[in-house]
Amino acid sequence: MDGMFFKKEVIEKILSQANLTNIIKDETANMPNYNFGISAKFGMKYANECPFCHSKAPAMQIESETYYCNSCGRGGNVFDFVMRVKNMTFVEVVTYLANKYDIPTEVPPFTQKVVSRKTTALMSINQTAAKFYFDQLRTGDGASGMKYFNDRGVSASIRSSFGLGYAGNFGDSLYQHLKNKGYEDSDLLESGLIAKNTKDNATSPFYDKFWNRVIFPILNPEGRVIGFGGRILGDGKPKYLNSQETPVFDKGKNLYCYSIAKNSKLPYYICCEGYMDAMSLHQYGFDCAVASLGTALTRDQIKLLSTKKEIILAYDSDDAGIRAAKRAIALCREVGLKIRVIQMRGAKDPDEFLKKFGVDAFKELIRDAETDKHFLIRNSKTEDNKFDFDNAVDELF
Ligand code: GTP
Ligand code: MN
Repeated sequence: MDGMFFKKEVIEKILSQANLTNIIKDETANMPNYNFGISAKFGMKYANECPFCHSKAPAMQIESETYYCNSCGRGGNVFDFVMRVKNMTFVEVVTYLANKYDIPTEVPPFTQKVVSRKTTALMSINQTAAKFYFDQLRTGDGASGMKYFNDRGVSASIRSSFGLGYAGNFGDSLYQHLKNKGYEDSDLLESGLIAKNTKDNATSPFYDKFWNRVIFPILNPEGRVIGFGGRILGDGKPKYLNSQETPVFDKGKNLYCYSIAKNSKLPYYICCEGYMDAMSLHQYGFDCAVASLGTALTRDQIKLLSTKKEIILAYDSDDAGIRAAKRAIALCREVGLKIRVIQMRGAKDPDEFLKKFGVDAFKELIRDAETDKHFLIRNSKTEDNKFDFDNAVDELF
């Protein structure tokens, strides 16, 4: 907001010192075909003519701080008046009037929202790369990516709404594309999408980090692309490659699919581990699903999730999944957020479960999800894997 650039006191001082009638007189002085004059009528003050619609009814009523034209409907305070008559922005008008009345406008650093040149460049690179991957998936080169999504049952509508893409086999095609758009090498390197080629016989000084992978753009809560996950098409390693952290991509402060899930009408979030799990849940109608980006939930992520009444955890039921659930429960308890845990049987993750057993079976899983207390008691184990009676009793009472 423009207004954020000025201290409240600056605005208030201008309003208290500027006399609207005088301002109207001053600012219309050089206006051709306009003659300033004031008359009183029905106990109100009027300008003899409206400087905007030129109605001479007289239509423009002036109060101490506001004006209003009964004929054209234009109205507002001294800032609105000067913005209209001088065709200035709010910031320009405040600066202009502050100057006129000798009011200092120095900007306090804490209210100045500085969006640095670098942030702007990185956001723009991510957006451009997302479009590039998106287009690649839909061309002949992307046929293997398209086949991969089809084989895994990802619908066309999910492919579009999640902006899914494909990174092809050419070593530097994204680099060339971004270079042609005019981005600086230093920004491209910092985006994490491009790396320096150190081989002696390299044909290009840079190469694309993502290649021969299907691409999942990662959006921030406002829906802007900040990073990517890429899955290998077959069995190679690593299975998933994620963008490194950058000045615009903080893994602990974002969740995959959150920008969509936050608008879901469902009263809870479903939190799972994998990209494919979150996407499948969305495809099957659970538009409240999010995935943590390959790490245990953080306090910042819990804060994002506290906009709904409850979190339903749908983690794998292996040891790592249990540990992650315990940690999430502890964090939810810190902020008094309700959390329950799904127990999946017959499938290793939500994606597999939905495909095997369908939507209604998953709804039952949600309905039957254990409370945090129940989960902690059932999973009370000492280090040598015996039932931890003391811990279970602590949970009970
Ligand atoms: P699919 O095999 O595609 O169904 O993946 P999945 O989501 O079932 O994968 P898995 O349970 O193996 O992993 C869950 C999540 O952990 C993934 O979605 C990734 O975010 C992350 N992950 C998995 N494998 C890797 C890896 O090799 N490297 C990194 N950095 N993250 C990984
Ligand atoms: Mn899976």
